[in-house]
Amino acid sequence: MQILAIETSCDETAVSLVKADKGNFFVMDEYVSSQAKVHSPFGGVVPNLAAREHVKNLPILLKKIIKKNKIDGKNVDLIAVTQGPGLIPALLVGTNAAKALAYAWKKPLVGVNHVEGHIYANMIGANAKFQIINPKQIQNSPPKADQPMAEKLNIQKFEIKFPVLALIVSGGHTELILMKKHLSYKILGRTLDDAAGEAFDKAAKILNLGYPGGPAVSKLAKKYYTNAHNPIPDIHYSLPRPMLNSSNFNFSFSGLKTALLYTVRDNSQILKNRKLKEEICYEFQQAIVDVLVHKTITVAKKYRPKTILLGGGVSANKELRKQLGEAIKKELPTTNYSLPTAKYSLDNASMIAVASYFHFMAAKNKKEFLGNWKNMEAEANLSL
Ligand code: KG4
Ligand code: ZN
Repeated sequence: MQILAIETSCDETAVSLVKADKGNFFVMDEYVSSQAKVHSPFGGVVPNLAAREHVKNLPILLKKIIKKNKIDGKNVDLIAVTQGPGLIPALLVGTNAAKALAYAWKKPLVGVNHVEGHIYANMIGANAKFQIINPKQIQNSPPKADQPMAEKLNIQKFEIKFPVLALIVSGGHTELILMKKHLSYKILGRTLDDAAGEAFDKAAKILNLGYPGGPAVSKLAKKYYTNAHNPIPDIHYSLPRPMLNSSNFNFSFSGLKTALLYTVRDNSQILKNRKLKEEICYEFQQAIVDVLVHKTITVAKKYRPKTILLGGGVSANKELRKQLGEAIKKELPTTNYSLPTAKYSLDNASMIAVASYFHFMAAKNKKEFLGNWKNMEAEANLSL
């Protein structure tokens, strides 16, 4: 079945056409338009500006994907859209477009939770070398009779082994979620204030590094330990690891941001000296990675999942990916580790398509999604 998906919950406008074939997902075509430049002067996402950009860009992206793939309502089986959580003016642009398409084409419409989208991003070519394939490639190289399509395209069937412990870290979320089966979510811990990505973004603002902060901070952090100093030297500035040993599984990152603010205020040379900036970026990133890794391992030791899964924008962070992997190998060697390809860590519509497929397949009455264009509404605080 073919799924056309739309994502507009924050500052990326994204559309995707995904083919679901017996548990394998083929991204046939997709487009993501980032608004980072628009929000950069403000050091964070401005909701109304985000909505304005989505209104401008979504019709362009939709027209492109529809025309290029000759989508006409007959060859699409399902429309999927991010229903929430997110910025309401931004979400409304996507949900209204999706509703209009579902009505015009008389297709089922599935509203997807953005956080579950980040979880299911792990199923897009998780074991594949081949991520994006263009439809022509399939037509030009049809699988031989004795060779399943997945194998031909070098895509192995990826099955998540349950129970899964998911760590979702993004600009709006820091959550540890236990999944006993598909679409079943129990939140074991969450941030009490800032999300991990938000902390990166605020740190970048303090250090005049622009928006989004995660890539900027991690770029300088990498310079610190690769170029200038090898092996990693003593850190001169030390920042706290908030709630590292707290008795619950929650997080808090606003104190870390404040500690950075005070360190920069009391050491004004940091802002003028590139090397000091690299050093403080290293320490800031490491503080976040330490807390995320330690908590995830602690929770995993208690709940003994078969898979630990990472997702969300911060999961693009190479140190987090690496250090969590090393910790799992050392402390829980029989546990699987699943992470999305870095591209699908960030907001995209393919992950929304994949999550929608599981909702659709789980429904006893598939027709229930047919009238959804009438009653599905965007929800800023949609919970899992
Ligand atoms: O999932 P996402 O694209 O959007 C939300 O759902 O929020 O996540 C965006 C967040 C931003 O806060 C950004 O700074 C952070 O992910 N991020 C990173 C990296 N790339 C993006 N954080 C740390 N390291 C990165 N490499
Ligand atoms: Zn996201």
